[in-house]
Amino acid sequence: MELLTKSRPLFITFEGGEGVGKSTQIRVFREFLEKSGLQVVMTREPGGCDNALALRKMLVEGDADRWDGLSETLLYSAARNEHLREVIRPELKNGRWIICDRFADSTHVYQGEGRGMPYDVLEYVSNIVVKDTWPDLTFVLDMPTEDGLYRARGRQENMFENRFETIEDSFHERVRQGFLKIAKKNPQRCRVIDANGTIEEVHERVKNALFQYLQEKAA
Ligand code: TMP
Repeated sequence: MELLTKSRPLFITFEGGEGVGKSTQIRVFREFLEKSGLQVVMTREPGGCDNALALRKMLVEGDADRWDGLSETLLYSAARNEHLREVIRPELKNGRWIICDRFADSTHVYQGEGRGMPYDVLEYVSNIVVKDTWPDLTFVLDMPTEDGLYRARGRQENMFENRFETIEDSFHERVRQGFLKIAKKNPQRCRVIDANGTIEEVHERVKNALFQYLQEKAA
């Protein structure tokens, strides 16, 4: 526990396909950090501040082919730029831990693997937006695509925010493989978490991965 309370505030992101249980895991992870005495800001993309939320509405509602890959990339990146400016950088400076539901890896995966945007364009755009504020740690929640989609399509919480969930299954398989590829390429930052199991079981895996990361950093 001392490893946690002595650590500098970390910027932690959760990534993964539809229905892998990100929101639930983020909620219990936040509770765990707060119970440990840390000051935590929980946020999500696209969103986190007014300008980014306005962009979110345009991005997650409407027809699946409403935007082409380039427009989507630029809009998500604009939302991220606002989020970094308004929330992430100032809060990190204030000593708060940041837990963010999706970040730049989602653009690489959804607009790259999913929409076919070239890697060098995505790399260029994400570098000018993110600059030196890459997450310290990224949890990639992973489960078979069909299980995640089954869960995502079964929930009714916001019937308008389903633009991506209605796209065909092969898109979502590419998304899953895309996240696994990023995790393999960035082993220092990314930890793949098996998202099958109970909330407590998955939370335990997330916590173990965090402590392993802190131990590696302290060594
Ligand atoms: P959510 O369902 O996790 O709230 O995310 C909203 C949708 O936006 C989700 O289907 C993934 C998609 N998305 C992208 O396509 N690119 C991005 O950069 C981000 C952050 C999300």
